[in-house]
Amino acid sequence: MTIQWNDLIVRDARALTASEIRDLLKVAERPEITSFAGGVPDPSLFPLGDFNDVYRDLMDDDVAGRRSLQYSISEGLPALRQWIVDDLASSGAVRGIDNILITCGAQQGLDMLARLLLEPGREIVVEKPTYLGAMQAFSMRRPTYVGVNMDADGPVVADLDAAFAAGARIAYLAPDFQNPTGRSYSLERRLAVLEVARQHGAVILEDAAYSKLSYDGEVIPSLLALDETHGDQNAGTVIQLGTFSKTLAPALRIGWVCAPRPAIERLVLMKQAGDLHVSTINQEVALRAARRLFPAHIDTLRDAYRSKRDTMLAALDEFMPDGVTYTRPEGGMFIWLTLPENIDSRALLELALAEAKVAFVPGQAFFCDHSGCHTARLSFATEKPERIRAGIERLAALIRRVHNQY
Ligand SMILES: Cc1ncc(COP(=O)(O)O)c(C=O)c1O
Repeated sequence: MTIQWNDLIVRDARALTASEIRDLLKVAERPEITSFAGGVPDPSLFPLGDFNDVYRDLMDDDVAGRRSLQYSISEGLPALRQWIVDDLASSGAVRGIDNILITCGAQQGLDMLARLLLEPGREIVVEKPTYLGAMQAFSMRRPTYVGVNMDADGPVVADLDAAFAAGARIAYLAPDFQNPTGRSYSLERRLAVLEVARQHGAVILEDAAYSKLSYDGEVIPSLLALDETHGDQNAGTVIQLGTFSKTLAPALRIGWVCAPRPAIERLVLMKQAGDLHVSTINQEVALRAARRLFPAHIDTLRDAYRSKRDTMLAALDEFMPDGVTYTRPEGGMFIWLTLPENIDSRALLELALAEAKVAFVPGQAFFCDHSGCHTARLSFATEKPERIRAGIERLAALIRRVHNQY
């Protein structure tokens, strides 16, 4: 008898859907395509020599080397958690190591928080647009999405207030250099967001994946830093997700959740049940690499990405026709394009791949309500400056032509 997979697979797993544009974007990997579609760091910036030294030093050390190949505790290595606590403290967020759980990337943090806090029908507030990977993690729990509109300073406070007043108690927000728009919240908006959440007893999941990649001016304190807990490890409105993926290397798969202890205690039990712990050797290597390389390596990354961002913005300023607008991010990896309303960005992608040899991600996938069909995400992270400029010039020419056709 044939297996009836559709009957066998539970509804939660059936809620996962493959992205329709994934096949289209496979073409983006061809060398003739200039790809602004990726969401990954520039591999030429990975510090290979330093990793070589870190791995060799570790294996030359009989005690540390053997320990790094052994099982370890579910919370994560204490020394790594302490490093994270110290790093958080340096940016104004005072927490203890019992507030930290090491996860397999921030993505596992999102998945675990979804399993901790969501269930079918429960509301979760998300930005419009938001990080697609977060919605993929949340959707497995079949929540009800409540999208909040964004302005130049962050989420519209009245929208957030209305969402909480209607019963939502969880919001997923990315205040720094958001994926996909590159936008950041102002300090005033951060304070207002925290205040509204507190008034309603809501929890904020703060995604800080890009927060170290700031290119201009002053760094604004995170929601976690603004959420003063007065040393009480059980208190707090904010759960923050962090990662080494954008600052060291994503393949390490080292991220963390910083949360009040009642949440961490549950998450540790889930971690035990799920995969015991994150790879010991990867945690050890991440710790040694962070101690050795930071902050100088972060400055190197900032200089490299700032220059790519400037190249892309200059090309957009020079070539994009009237009617196309875009964000001017102060950090991160993304610029968000808003096209004239008569241009559908999915249809544009097909033409862009075939004719302009340029790839980007159509914006619709980032909206919980599937709006935004005339928006697009551009990443400046991986291409070389000459290719960024030439690619934007070709994309702009295509947009001008398509716009004039209607
Ligand atoms: C906003 C955001 N959060 C989380 C992640 C997940 O990162 P990782 O699991 O590699 O730490 C990403 C990856 O691109 C991201 O863009």
